[in-house]
Amino acid sequence: MRRCQVVATFLTPTLPPGAPFPEAAGWIALRADLLGDAACARLQRRARRPCLYSLRSTPGCPGDEDDATRTARLVRAAKTYDLVELDVLRDLRPAVLAAVPPEQRMLAWYGAAASATALEQRWAGMAAVPAACYKIVPHALHPTDGLAPLALLRRLNRTDLVAYAEGEAGAWTRVLAAYLGSPFVFGTPSNDPSPHDPGALCVSQLHTHYGLPELQPVTTVFGIAGTSVLHSLAPLLHNEGYRVLGLKARYLPFKTTSEDLSWLPAFAGHFQDRLGLDLPGLTVVSPHKQAVVRAAGRATSSDLSWSTQAANNIVRRNGQWHTHTDGASSLMEPIRAHQIPVAGRRAAVVGCGGAGRPAAVALASAGAHVTLVNRSLDRGQWAAALLGLPFLPLTTFAVDDFDLIVHATPVGKRDGEVLFPLDGLREGAAVVDLVYRAASQTALVEQVRAKGREAVTGREILAASVRRQFHLLTGKDLPASALRSVVPVEQPAAVHQPS
Ligand SMILES: NC(=O)c1ccc[n+]([C@@H]2O[C@H](COP(=O)([O-])OP(=O)(O)OC[C@H]3O[C@@H](n4cnc5c(N)ncnc54)[C@H](OP(=O)(O)O)[C@@H]3O)[C@@H](O)[C@H]2O)c1
Repeated sequence: MRRCQVVATFLTPTLPPGAPFPEAAGWIALRADLLGDAACARLQRRARRPCLYSLRSTPGCPGDEDDATRTARLVRAAKTYDLVELDVLRDLRPAVLAAVPPEQRMLAWYGAAASATALEQRWAGMAAVPAACYKIVPHALHPTDGLAPLALLRRLNRTDLVAYAEGEAGAWTRVLAAYLGSPFVFGTPSNDPSPHDPGALCVSQLHTHYGLPELQPVTTVFGIAGTSVLHSLAPLLHNEGYRVLGLKARYLPFKTTSEDLSWLPAFAGHFQDRLGLDLPGLTVVSPHKQAVVRAAGRATSSDLSWSTQAANNIVRRNGQWHTHTDGASSLMEPIRAHQIPVAGRRAAVVGCGGAGRPAAVALASAGAHVTLVNRSLDRGQWAAALLGLPFLPLTTFAVDDFDLIVHATPVGKRDGEVLFPLDGLREGAAVVDLVYRAASQTALVEQVRAKGREAVTGREILAASVRRQFHLLTGKDLPASALRSVVPVEQPAAVHQPS
């Protein structure tokens, strides 16, 4: 099996409290421009593996030193580091080239997003300078900006070229570059995002979610598009499913910020033409869930997607993109598993976005008396008219009026956040929180359970949702072991009694 080298790039001199030294990394990169040489030396002693010295140079930022100081630092680094990164625009001076021999050079270019032609020209200039390794890194503002560096990798088919796109929109390229020949994949030691390496995924995430450094063959790419995707657990589940079933597929995060998804058909076409990979389907999350239905139109939207104007899956069949939502089944399956009664009960769905609307329809179809609750009046009233359900503004919502409450806003992703007070939560009431956190329960789930009431977690919703998505995208069932071994999905929890 092919392997790449996962590199943990240190941007700060210490790890966050509790974070272990990244054992999964085969290499360590030390950003000397941010750390200083003394801290680099300390980390190098601790690393016990090969180290890359990187003195990034951005005008007006740390590391933007005069040429003499820079030269002196690079010459000194060459005495102890395994590889020394040389900026192709600044460091090709005789003194530097004399001190850093070709076998120790990583010749690097960083810049704005560029066309494939521009990157080819950049490569031609770099290739004239002997080096152990070359690195070409444009900055992506949109997922489409990541195609050019990967197309370059595929066309040149070398084992000494690293090419990917920086920026959160380029995060997907860091993973896929390895499959297209990049010998190194750069991550960070911890999960804390940094403006100094935007879009870098944590080394442990590269391993658990994306299977690196091992490289199984890949012919098909799926993914998740939306604002909040870089720390989603969906890639972990899908990729584990592909691994267990031996599918030649990878599921990647495509970070986008605008609602617009009109780029997708052309993007999928470029995947085929320029990367030799199929991109037949995506999960979509906020802010795309409504736009994707509008773009697909009635004929290629499932009934529920159309009636709720929300879809979270888009799949290409016979050359056309079709939308689907699993929002109803992924809510009702865990509710049934918890044996929470629905028919005849008073239910509130708090949040009328792309997740809340299908949830409301599912509960109403199961016989609940559903009230929609929303922060903004515009969206709440629009959803109420669309679905034919009553609406309450969030400011007048009180939990004591309801037996079942579904929370469908993003509030709760951070420590201690709860959108509404739980005072007066009825005896026998249940709460479903669509939000989940990577490492702990949400404060809403904790507070509901502390009151002795039933809570369904966002992870349970996610597990049900990914099961549906996996089947829709691959035509196969997600192996139960992928869920059990990777996400500690809870069985319907015993209700905790308040102390
Ligand atoms: N566990 C899972 O598998 C799963 C599945 C789907 C969704 N989710 C989670 O559910 C949440 C909602 O997803 P979505 O797709 O419906 O998003 P969305 O389409 O963007 O809608 C967001 C909704 O939340 C409301 N909202 C946003 N920020 C708020 C705040 N600070 N206070 C009060 N209300 C606020 C919005 O109200 P306004 O109209 O006032 O903006 C809107 O109704 C997300 O956190 C998502 O991660 C989880």
